[in-house]
Amino acid sequence: MGSRTNGVAGGSINGPVDKGADFANYFCTYAFLYHQKEMLNDRVRMDAYYNAVFKNKHHFQGKTVLDVGTGSGILAIWSAQAGARKVYAVEATKMSEHARTLVQANNLQDVVEVIEGSMEEVVLPEKVDVIISEWMGYFLLRESMFDSVICARDRWLKPTGVMYPSHARMWVAPIRSGLVDQKKIDYEGAMDDWYGFLEDTKDYYGVDMSVLTKPFSVEQEKYYLQTSLWNNLHPDQVIGTPAVIKVIDCLTASVNDILQLESSFSSAISMVPTRFCGFAGWFDVHFRGRTEDPAQQEIELTTAPSPNNGTHWGQQVFFFHPPLHVDEETNLNVSFSMIRSKENHRLMEVEFDVKISKPSDKEHFDLSFCCLNILSSPVANLSLVSSFRECSKSALFLQLHFKTWILVCMPSMLVCSRYALD
Ligand SMILES: C[S@@+](CC[C@H](N)C(=O)[O-])C[C@H]1O[C@@H](n2cnc3c(N)ncnc32)[C@H](O)[C@@H]1O
Repeated sequence: MGSRTNGVAGGSINGPVDKGADFANYFCTYAFLYHQKEMLNDRVRMDAYYNAVFKNKHHFQGKTVLDVGTGSGILAIWSAQAGARKVYAVEATKMSEHARTLVQANNLQDVVEVIEGSMEEVVLPEKVDVIISEWMGYFLLRESMFDSVICARDRWLKPTGVMYPSHARMWVAPIRSGLVDQKKIDYEGAMDDWYGFLEDTKDYYGVDMSVLTKPFSVEQEKYYLQTSLWNNLHPDQVIGTPAVIKVIDCLTASVNDILQLESSFSSAISMVPTRFCGFAGWFDVHFRGRTEDPAQQEIELTTAPSPNNGTHWGQQVFFFHPPLHVDEETNLNVSFSMIRSKENHRLMEVEFDVKISKPSDKEHFDLSFCCLNILSSPVANLSLVSSFRECSKSALFLQLHFKTWILVCMPSMLVCSRYALD
């Protein structure tokens, strides 16, 4: 083990990362077997990595492999079973001890070397042919662990080396969901509770706290209405064409490429008539090897809404309030942006600007109604960038702008059940 000063994840935009806080906020959860088990239980994830390794043994046989963030050691063990000569399995947390035990129990201690330490600081005795890692967070980039993989690649991958996975994509699509109503109810419940609290505090303790109503409401809005949620959507809840908003080549991407994402896309509503409640974001990764040394069998791991193959990543849903009524004539022109939170480089802030257009006169009324709803809603927290205005012929445009945060919580702490379809 050695030290490295410039490999601190996320440091370039947010300044140096406080390692103690990062360990307390982020790494600590990975030290628990219950959390590793959640990932090991994810059949879609496990099958994809298993098939990627064992259907492409030519990338592993006799080769040196680096597993970035080995956790329980599963990917390192598979790499060794597929014929690797040497596997370096790096893990920042005490999970490394369980990984070492597991490696020994499977009699692979001569091939797999578990190293406890931060990937940015570990020094290996040689460069490697393959880097394998399961680094993907919610909506791909939450956790910012890909920074560590990039750092490992730039330091330890041979010029001819292969990345597992080799490519990643992020997707966004408009959705409908009953969860949007539940969140509004939760918010209103929190405010009702606040008003009861105000009365009690005044009656029993003689202090009027009503001056704090506004900041409390802002805080609760942010929590209930402006924070993105984990959800396992049914494909029927996707109401318009999904768009790829980012493509990452894991062999060449830099941290700068993922610090800030900007994308513009259009999406045609494909369902009649329905409620447009917000957007869902998900990702897929591919195992393709590299152009000069391709996979024998390309494997895909997708976290898209699926009727029966959900993953522990689910999808991130970004709601606005209240929902809008749309139909198949509606077209959305969307500007998406995502940056890292200034307070925590492993969390993201996401903004959507949406222009909703519709050529039919008949729909003028419906959309206008939605627009008034937005303007009159005290909890909407949407800034209506520009209200309805006549554009070409009878086409109408509504622009809305909303901002949302990606939560820190793990899915097991959130509502994991699939919500009833609208
Ligand atoms: C998503 S888990 C994957 C665990 C295991 N590879 C698997 O597929 O089941 C990511 C693991 O990487 C570890 N990790 C994240 N960043 C790291 C870093 N910079 N250095 C070492 N380990 C890291 C975490 O502690 C965690 O155990």
